[in-house]
Amino acid sequence: MIERRTLGWTGEKISPLILGSWEFGTPTIISEEQAIKIIRKAIELGINAIDTAESYGAGLSEKIIGKAIKGFKREEIFITTKVSYDHLRYDDVIKSAEGSLRRLETSYIDLYLIHWPHHYIPLRETLKAMEKLWSEGKIRYIGVSNFPLPMLRAAREHLSKTDVAVNQVHYNLLYREIEKELMPYMIQENIAIQAYDPLALGFLIGRREIRDEYRWYRLARPEIIEAIQPLVNEIKTIASEIGRTPAQVVLNWLLIKENVFPVFNTTKEEHLIDNIGSIGWRLSKEHLERIDRIWTSIKLEGV
Ligand SMILES: NC(=O)c1ccc[n+]([C@@H]2O[C@H](COP(=O)([O-])OP(=O)(O)OC[C@H]3O[C@@H](n4cnc5c(N)ncnc54)[C@H](OP(=O)(O)O)[C@@H]3O)[C@@H](O)[C@H]2O)c1
Repeated sequence: MIERRTLGWTGEKISPLILGSWEFGTPTIISEEQAIKIIRKAIELGINAIDTAESYGAGLSEKIIGKAIKGFKREEIFITTKVSYDHLRYDDVIKSAEGSLRRLETSYIDLYLIHWPHHYIPLRETLKAMEKLWSEGKIRYIGVSNFPLPMLRAAREHLSKTDVAVNQVHYNLLYREIEKELMPYMIQENIAIQAYDPLALGFLIGRREIRDEYRWYRLARPEIIEAIQPLVNEIKTIASEIGRTPAQVVLNWLLIKENVFPVFNTTKEEHLIDNIGSIGWRLSKEHLERIDRIWTSIKLEGV
């Protein structure tokens, strides 16, 4: 059974890896049947945390998760979902949460995140609605996603009865923006970091082709894929030296950090099993230094 880790100040014990589900809402990438199989397999193997959002496939991902978790004990699964950028007015937040509860076929959401900060809807208004949902027991914890430090601080100030539990952010061995100021603050305050895109959509472990579905993604550009190849090669070399796979190296790099929970996605059972093999061991100091050396030499323009 996979170990459990404490999710920041909440005290909740969850698996160190979280199963993401953006792709489960995209039928051109994965069928509903296969998505359900992956979710069930992940739970059977000990991954008890699942991440989704109302926007993934316009609710399809949540519906699939609702179907997949039937037959498991609800209290043993930790479900995160997110309210979309365009639903951050007070009434819209309440409506969105009701929609997510319906699609997930559950009476509560474990962790409810603001998916992206809004440019002009006051945070106070959104968080007032979130706190109402929290008071009613419809959501157990409040969190944010893609919040830079000043906005995270502001969000905390707008909550009077509870605190922000999680900030889900873009973080992987290649894209390390949060290390400058956000991450030290979150560690100090014991707010959990959920690291999405941990494998850089697979580009960090050798994927080269850019599918149409990934066109929105800022790292999915031929010049960037070319530029990161020295890093990809070093990851492969380290993996073969220690009898691991590149995916395990990349995920372990995140897992050994304090308070960091990678949120990965896969459409294949063999990749699910591969990724679980990233838990329970540590990259050595020498390997970390080698990775850093190559990373420092890579210049990522415009990301
Ligand atoms: N909060 C936000 O704004 C936000 C933004 C983006 C994502 N997310 C969340 O984070 C989750 C993961 O993010 P992501 O999908 O962008 O990134 P990811 O997990 O880094 O990459 C997923 C890709 O990696 C491939 N992959 C996974 N394991 C592999 C393995 N062992 N070997 C080879 N390839 C492997 C998958 O292909 P296969 O299907 O072939 O395995 C898939 O195409 C999403 O599903 C979503 O829940 C949140």
